[in-house]
Amino acid sequence: MKLGIIGAGTMGNGIAQVAAFSGHEVILHDIEQQSLQRGMGAIDRSLGKIVAKLGIEDPQGRKDEVLSRIRTTTEWDGLAAAEFVVEAVFESFEVKKEVLQKLDQICPQGIVLASNTSSISITRLAAVTKRPEQVIGMHFMNPVPLMKLVEIIRGLATSDETFHKTEALAQELEKVPVEVNDSPGFVSNRVLLPMINEAIFALMEGVATAENIDQVMKLGMNHPMGPLKLADLIGLDVCLDILNVLFEGFKDPRYRPCPLLQKMVDAGWLGRKSGKGFYEYSR
Ligand code: CAA
Repeated sequence: MKLGIIGAGTMGNGIAQVAAFSGHEVILHDIEQQSLQRGMGAIDRSLGKIVAKLGIEDPQGRKDEVLSRIRTTTEWDGLAAAEFVVEAVFESFEVKKEVLQKLDQICPQGIVLASNTSSISITRLAAVTKRPEQVIGMHFMNPVPLMKLVEIIRGLATSDETFHKTEALAQELEKVPVEVNDSPGFVSNRVLLPMINEAIFALMEGVATAENIDQVMKLGMNHPMGPLKLADLIGLDVCLDILNVLFEGFKDPRYRPCPLLQKMVDAGWLGRKSGKGFYEYSR
């Protein structure tokens, strides 16, 4: 299948990588050439690690073969040939609205437009297009090449046919699709973000250091990484956005973002991507 992927950031390049790895042709679109270059660099590094572990004779050849299936473009018209599109642009309703409306004009009728949104309502996104039956949530987890889950979110108007096509695609990408209905934060972030938020409150209140909060959750609950390190991986701005979606969506104070999280985002401390969050990172 020819897959269109919009946005070459962390999620977009991860999706492009797994799609190309499983044999699909990929058109990777971004509005900036520089982002495409950064995205291809990330794919190159991640693929390098993955093929090295395959124990095959020609890892470099395998990597080149996968990379050759990804075509990058800054032109929207290139997406007209895509048979399925996943958008992974900046997590803002206005930005996604603009992208979906563009795709709605360019892509032939019947082509599914999937959104990798982490918490924006699929029903609301679908309603900005003339094909709400073919709009669906396809929520990958970070880092995409390593995480098995894809949350598949049905909007109010999403058709069964769209759902089954999306489920089949997720399986072809060697992911495990899990069906959920449209609701703020879906399941993943409705459960994950309150835990991360609580860890930040614990830090702010001086209950323990960041390292010790993370150690408790890693060693005590067998989480692969502590909640504060995970927040740094997700991006503190993304965590704040998701908490605001939960807070506004449910009108429930239990989702109130911790003031320390707000302050860190205001300072530009966004986690790994900015070099500083709850921990420091060399860039
Ligand atoms: N591509 C390929 N390989 C990678 C990689 C990538 N992007 N990232 C890490 N690896 C490899 C490393 O090279 C390492 O390989 P070796 O064992 O051969 O050295 C291996 O994976 C393990 O990595 P690390 O030793 O660096 O660290 P780790 O053992 O802690 O594993 C992890 C890393 C897989 C990220 C693990 O910590 C983990 O599963 N963390 C939780 C991630 C998570 O919860 N993600 C969901 C976030 S929520 C979300 O995404 C949704 C949302 O909307 C916000």
